[in-house]
Amino acid sequence: MIPAVATPETEAPAAAEQGSPAVGPLAVLRLAVSEFRCYRDAAIETGGASVVLTGPNGAGKTNLLEAVSFLAPGRGLRRSGLAEIERHGAGSRWAVSATVTQPTGPVTIGTGRDPDAGEDSERRVVRVDGQAQRGPVVLGELVALSWLTPAMDRLFADGSSARRRFVDRLALGFDPDHARRVAAYEQAMRERAKLLERGNADPAWIAALEETMAGEGVAVAAARKHLVERLAAAVEEMDGAFPVPGLALTGELADWLGQMPALEAEEKLAAGLAQSRRRDAESGRASAGPHRDDLSVTFRAKGQPARLCSTGEQKALLVAIVLAHARLVAAERGRPPLLLLDEIAAHLDAGRRAALFQEIGRLGAQAWMTGTDELLFTPLTGRARFFRVAEAQIQAR
Ligand SMILES: Nc1ncnc2c1ncn2[C@@H]1O[C@H](COP(=O)(O)OP(=O)(O)OP(=O)(O)O)[C@@H](O)[C@H]1O
Ligand SMILES: [Mg+2]
Repeated sequence: MIPAVATPETEAPAAAEQGSPAVGPLAVLRLAVSEFRCYRDAAIETGGASVVLTGPNGAGKTNLLEAVSFLAPGRGLRRSGLAEIERHGAGSRWAVSATVTQPTGPVTIGTGRDPDAGEDSERRVVRVDGQAQRGPVVLGELVALSWLTPAMDRLFADGSSARRRFVDRLALGFDPDHARRVAAYEQAMRERAKLLERGNADPAWIAALEETMAGEGVAVAAARKHLVERLAAAVEEMDGAFPVPGLALTGELADWLGQMPALEAEEKLAAGLAQSRRRDAESGRASAGPHRDDLSVTFRAKGQPARLCSTGEQKALLVAIVLAHARLVAAERGRPPLLLLDEIAAHLDAGRRAALFQEIGRLGAQAWMTGTDELLFTPLTGRARFFRVAEAQIQAR
């Protein structure tokens, strides 16, 4: 079935206003989804401009942002299982296809749950210009993206794992290999915990896993620390509409990296793990490593930890971090990441909303924004393409 394509009648200009990056913005020109959550078949043409999706609750707005998030490696912005995404009652597996600008010209990315694997398979397949790829990792070279969702309103209140994931997503914008390292570290940590629990495993086997944990773990912590330090410098250059967050990576590994070369930190971690096997066998955990890192965020002008700030202040701190990151990625990769901003207008006051829209334009980033109230996006008229989403139907405005 050929999906109905939603295209606005008026041409919207490209997102870049000024200071456009050297290789042109990264943008999704066309997005098509099939059997994806509430959508049987739907498509959207952006012309490279930013996108505003408005409509009632449950219309299918966030689902489209989630579809875009699968153009990067990882589990998407909801982190749900791939099987869960299949439209209820669908006859075939879900798929997302997108035409995405690249310095050498547009490429078509296709991805979805492997149609040839078993019913419970969580394998994601990727094609680039029709060519099958070995996995989603290649997408890190093609697409950088970051997102802000209502679920992240709890980022500062919840446990540290969500903050580590947030940092890792941002680090991926610079180093597509970062996700592989995090996964390799975590897998070695899990295997070690299993062997220690069993009790009679070969010590050489455990030592090999600890060596992997030390090597990958220090690399992960170093990448996070480097990122957070650069972000801390970049947020200083914000134009004042957003609060300047105080940012630091905390954890013993981050401390060691401030005191000694990475190689020494690796040896220290490996030695520490070897010494704590008995204790770790009892606790089922590893005594040290990047799984204990945390991102510390403060509202600097108030000297207040982010978790004590108001909901709107916390949102503004997050926006400041995401925008600073986009600026860093633009400087390093020549183009800013895609920005997926779900219900972004909800907690921002009018001044901050205007500043956000202006900064998106200045960056030349393609932003995908959602909201229930179209009026809040009025300042973007003529600069973004507007679509109305209702009951899984997309109508260009
Ligand atoms: N696998 C699935 N199959 C069919 N429908 C699904 C599936 N997963 C989610 N949905 C439905 O998709 C609908 C749209 O969800 P979505 O989160 O995109 O809404 P939304 O427009 O962002 O709404 P809100 O304004 O409340 O955030 C929901 O009603 C949800 O139940
Ligand atoms: Mg939503």
